[in-house]
Amino acid sequence: MPIELKKGIYWVGAIDWNLRDFHGYITGRGATYNSYLIVDEKIALVDTVKAPFYGEMLERIRQIIDPARIDYLICNHIEKDHSSSMPEFLRQFGRVKVFATQMAIKGLTRYYGAGLPVAAVKTGESLSLGTKTMQFIEVPMLHWPDSMFSYVPEENLLLSNDGFGQHLASSGRFDDEVPEAEVMFEAAKYYANLIMHLAPMVQNVLKKVRELNLAIDMIAPSHGIIWRSKPAAIIRAYDDWSQFKARNKVVVIYDTMWQSTEVMARELVQTMADAGVEVKLLKLRENHRSDIMTEVLDARGFFVGSPTLHRNLFPTVADLLSYMQGLRPHKKTAAAFGSYGWSGEAVKLVTDALKNMPLEVLEPGVQALYMPDEQDRQHLRALAQSMLSKIAAGT
Ligand code: FEO
Repeated sequence: MPIELKKGIYWVGAIDWNLRDFHGYITGRGATYNSYLIVDEKIALVDTVKAPFYGEMLERIRQIIDPARIDYLICNHIEKDHSSSMPEFLRQFGRVKVFATQMAIKGLTRYYGAGLPVAAVKTGESLSLGTKTMQFIEVPMLHWPDSMFSYVPEENLLLSNDGFGQHLASSGRFDDEVPEAEVMFEAAKYYANLIMHLAPMVQNVLKKVRELNLAIDMIAPSHGIIWRSKPAAIIRAYDDWSQFKARNKVVVIYDTMWQSTEVMARELVQTMADAGVEVKLLKLRENHRSDIMTEVLDARGFFVGSPTLHRNLFPTVADLLSYMQGLRPHKKTAAAFGSYGWSGEAVKLVTDALKNMPLEVLEPGVQALYMPDEQDRQHLRALAQSMLSKIAAGT
């Protein structure tokens, strides 16, 4: 069924209940692709859905109007989870005129070829639908160069595309219809894995929204639930996350071959716990990198432990560090540890990778030959104490 979120404005998207991998991000609760239909003197569709769900979107539209009556397609973002239905939609409904940013047109042309009926719009421009208006706000790098918000001032409605989204399939379409903890967890995971590296751009967008003085009483993103009961809460969360506000929590991330690095990890955990600091122990082969980044988001510090394997990092640790370097966590303290048998490269490699990020790195990391002895344990406790000092100082 389509859902009316404001008078004449409908959710006509699709629910991908069984999606478990969104380009490498584990989506344990599935996903949605949200399209919105605005029925006025002119009729606009805001974004389409991932191509396999085209029929589901069309069926929802048909329950409201004949899709052949749609005048405009607003393309807020070209990534294929929102645009891959567009070629078929335009083939079937050739009278539709598309509006997108100039950067979007460049990308759409590369994806789908030249000759699309698309016109460029930019911040400050608007499109009248009759009684309602679509105002366009470019939000480059939230999260692609082409990204755009659309705002309906008559309804105080922000159509924010990927911004403020969550990968969450649910029967409820609104934030007050799904448990708050579930929604906020998925919003944080989405931010940590897709948006974290764009924190300065998020701050720019929030500033722009404040300067435009937009009245917002509902935010309808392109993924997950629609924020109607607490839209201010997700804006505040984005403000906090993009400033890397953290709490007194430490994450110990590691992998292990014969439990030596695991013994070291547990020594760190025990020292942090004895000091009354919240600590989480996450083994890489049991925890996906996207869940680990969600834990790192609000942690003040973290440790990364790796055994040396074939004169190199353990593969799962290399995978995490590569992923983390792209996401660029800031304003956190980090340190390396690990065990080795003879050559012992891993701790230096972890330390070097951490130093390539805007982190405060505690040195030296701790490495143990074969199995940590009492002296190694002392070094680990000292490293943990250094972390505790940084946390106490709020750094
Ligand atoms: Fe939901 Fe950037 O696509």
